[in-house]
Amino acid sequence: MKILGIESSCDETAASVVEDGTKILSNKIASQIEIHARYGGVVPEVASRQHMLAIIPIIEQAMAEAKCGWQDIDAIAVTKGPGLAGALLVGVNTAKAIAIAQKLPLIGVNHLEGHIYANWLTGNAIYFPVLCLIVSGGHSDLVLMKGHGEYILLGRTRDDASGEAFDKVARILGLGYPGGPLIQKAAENGTATIRLPHSWMEGTNDFSFSGIKTALLRMTEGGKINLDDNLKNDLPSRSDAAASFQKAVIDVLVTKTISLAKEQGVNQILLAGGVAANKVLRQSLIDNSPLPVLIPPFILCTDNAAMIATCAYYRYKAGKIDGLDMDAIPNLKLA
Ligand code: KG4
Ligand code: ZN
Repeated sequence: MKILGIESSCDETAASVVEDGTKILSNKIASQIEIHARYGGVVPEVASRQHMLAIIPIIEQAMAEAKCGWQDIDAIAVTKGPGLAGALLVGVNTAKAIAIAQKLPLIGVNHLEGHIYANWLTGNAIYFPVLCLIVSGGHSDLVLMKGHGEYILLGRTRDDASGEAFDKVARILGLGYPGGPLIQKAAENGTATIRLPHSWMEGTNDFSFSGIKTALLRMTEGGKINLDDNLKNDLPSRSDAAASFQKAVIDVLVTKTISLAKEQGVNQILLAGGVAANKVLRQSLIDNSPLPVLIPPFILCTDNAAMIATCAYYRYKAGKIDGLDMDAIPNLKLA
């Protein structure tokens, strides 16, 4: 069964053809990063307009690379939420138009569920129950998954999502946008010398990252971090600040995930979402976990449509098909 997946929830327009939920025939992504970088973050209206320009060409490219005509496609999958309303609408309406024209079933997918299902594209067997750590620009969730499509939300962020914290701290340190990869790169040249408040949220499985971010903001405002890479002095450098921030966030994510995985008696830990592309987080989780850890390849951690098509395959098998009255739901919940 071949499914065409479409993703347009934020600043990537993506299309992909996946066979039987496991084999990627094509995976095309048109990134808007350069456009939004000028503004230091995603501008929703600009994102919608870019999706409008990119969506048909990216679908055509995905179909061509997969060597598929419409007669080869068995269903259309699309991200229906959560995400930016205008951005989601472009994908949802395009998917509906194709579904009508080609008389194909339409499958709406939750973007976070899609991130989790990127793990089904790793080629590794997955044995339920598993604990998923979803870390993206909008979420930091700990989700117990007992079967396909069965989610119990056990922990979440009380304030900033982890990716959001990376993006905000990168802005504070003047590193640019998007923050995650830039903090990771800066941190490679620094040492985690700054003691930042780790907020453990004792007695809960929840996270809080805004305190770490605010502590760094106060330090930069007070001139306690050297923001000039060419100036040598005794203050911690931007790279040291990046390394300290990255370590503080990852310490908490890894410790709380492993402790909850043990408590729940799961078989595996699945990492998902854009922040899962962080090399230090990946290594730290693998090094510290007594349980097997699955992590998608880098290109399937950040937003893509292969994960949407894969998730849709399992929804289709469970009989979860949407009608043409399906709508974009910007604040769609996973559980
Ligand atoms: O999943 P994603 O592509 O989009 C959302 O669904 O939000 O995640 C984007 C987030 C951004 O905040 C970005 O800074 C972060 O993932 N990110 C990273 C890395 N690559 C992307 N964070 C830390 N380290 C990275 N290497
Ligand atoms: Zn995402």
